[in-house]
Parts: sequence; structure tokens; C-alpha cells
Amino acid sequence: METLDITQPDDWHLHVRDGDFLKTVVPHTAEQFARAVIMPNLKVPLTHTQDALAYKERILKSVPKHLSFEPLMTLYLTDHLKPSEIRLAKEQGIVALKLYPAGATTNSDLGVTDIKHIYPVLEAMQRHGLLLLVHGEVTDPSIDVFDREAVFIDRQLEPLRRDFPGLKIVFEHITTEQACEYVKSVDTGLGATLTAHHLLLNRNAIFKGGLRPHYYCLPVLKRETHRVALLNAATSGDARFFLGTDSAPHLATLKEHASACAGCYTASIAMSLYASAFEAAGRLSQLERFASLNGPAFYGLKKNTQRLRLKKTPFEVQAEYPYAQGALKPLFAGEMLEWSAQLVT
Ligand code: DOR
Ligand code: ZN
Repeated sequence: METLDITQPDDWHLHVRDGDFLKTVVPHTAEQFARAVIMPNLKVPLTHTQDALAYKERILKSVPKHLSFEPLMTLYLTDHLKPSEIRLAKEQGIVALKLYPAGATTNSDLGVTDIKHIYPVLEAMQRHGLLLLVHGEVTDPSIDVFDREAVFIDRQLEPLRRDFPGLKIVFEHITTEQACEYVKSVDTGLGATLTAHHLLLNRNAIFKGGLRPHYYCLPVLKRETHRVALLNAATSGDARFFLGTDSAPHLATLKEHASACAGCYTASIAMSLYASAFEAAGRLSQLERFASLNGPAFYGLKKNTQRLRLKKTPFEVQAEYPYAQGALKPLFAGEMLEWSAQLVT
């Protein structure tokens, strides 16, 4: 297949940061995606509806004039968020709240220290129909970093689902076979996003020819058997699995550092990467479901009307992008990719 036209996709998990950084990354996403769920883990986390709405306006200012793009806003759960915020959030169009276990990842220090602390808020979310997005890793330092997602399922996610059967939950950026199997075992109310890099790479990528910080993200890449399970889930057509890039830009100086920040920047090449993964699995025919149909169905939103064209036109990934006063290096910088993506006008 040389050309594939699909309903314009959405990115159900995206980091765009703030300030001048927006000018680099927002256009990359808006060139491919109609909507994106914007993660709230800014340096000062977005814990209030008014802050999220002001942030949305700043994002919209960075959308190129010829494109239309809708940021779907989320709030950051802390131990102290009040249940009264939930009704306001719903009224103002916030789509979800993000649960970061405290200390699990970038800017998660103010995250939740014990899920029991947020039970009144979760109850309000269940009542008002706001989704819960979870970074599904335990933070217990005695648990091996490669096992933290699987342990999270047993220790946190299963009890949470039992206590809030009516709460819609997205298990974000899943990276293990255990997570795939768990999501498949639940009939309603649980979905999962999958990144392009976890579909294409296993943990060997982090160590190939030296330590490669641009391949470091959280949850960290896993062994090959997990990558294969993720690719099978994504390409199966199962409505519970949908696209979320987890594109997470950091200044190159902070990635190429003694304690490199976690996050892979993939927004600029996202649909090209997903197309390569689906092609390798022999399942390009399922890309539209995963990228454009399953997500809106899970969130209860309409699918997009515009179309995106993927063409077998190889191109070289740019080495870096200007990023405020520094540089931003995408994953696969300088390498060739097979598929180009363009909106059908
Ligand atoms: O690799 C990651 N980067 N994982 C996360 O959960 C957060 C993200 C970021 O914000 O940089
Ligand atoms: Zn993320």
C-alpha cells in the first residue's frame, strides 16, 4: 500500500509545556491531529479549572492560522483537591483528571501520595462523568523499575476499579503484556493509550552503542515480549486501545545530562511512526480505528470530519528544532522514516 487516507486522528495523551516552548510543539501536533488531551504536569501543576482554561488559551495562540486544533484540558490530582472543583471542571468543559502517584515521573512531586486521600474527589468524578487518567506505576523504591506497572495493576488499579465501578478510567501509555491483558479482561469503563515508541522499540534501544537518553521515558521501554504484546493490542481493532503519543519535550541540554529527564519527543513525526508500526504488523487497515475512532468513542466525542493522508514518501527526521532559547531533539533524529502524513485539504 502506498497511500492511506484516514479520518483525522486525535492524540489522547500529550505534553506541550508552556511559554515559548508552545510555539515549537503545538504546530507539530496541529499539523496531524484535530484534538489532543493536554497533560497538566506543568512546573506549577494545573490544579484548578480557571488555570487550565487560561492555559488552553495560551495553547490556542500557538496554533497556525490555517489549522484548526482543539486542546482537551485536564486537571492534576493532588491530595488536597476539593470535590467542589469537579462540578466546576465539568461545567467548564474539562474532560479528565490525571492521577500521578507522587514521585512517579516528571513534575509529579505534588501528585497523590495515597489514592485513599482522593476518594471523595473520585466519587464526585464518577457522579459528574469526568474521566480518570492514570500514570500506572507504583513508586515503591523496593519494586524494580521494570515491574512497577504490573505491580500497580494489582495494588492500585484493581481495588480502585472495584470501589468506583462507574468511573471511566484510561490506563495511560501502557508498556507491558500484563497491562494489555488486564485491559482486555475488563468489559466496560477501562481503556488504554499506547505510544508509538513503545510499539516500535524495546529496552535495548536505551543501550545501543552507549547510553542513549533520548530513548529514556517513563514508564521505561520494556523487553521485546512486551513490545509484541502492545503491538498486537494496538493493531487488533479492539476498541479499548487508542493512540496517545505521550510526546514529552525537554530541552536537549536536559536530556543529554547526568540525570536525563524522562520523555521522548515524537509529536512532529507521530503519525509516521504509528504507520510504520502498523505496517510492520501487517495491519495498516486497523490504523484508523486505533488513531481516529476508538478514542472519540471512549471519550464520548464525535469523530473528526477532516482526513489525513499517509503516503509512502520517505523523509529524514530533522536533527533538532529551535526550542525557546535552546534545542529540542526528536526521537529518530537524522534517521529515515517511510511514511509522510499530510492533511487532505
Ligand atoms: O517520560 C515521561 N515524560 N513520562 C511521563 O510520565 C511524563 C513525561 C514528561 O512530562 O516529561
Ligand atoms: Zn505523559
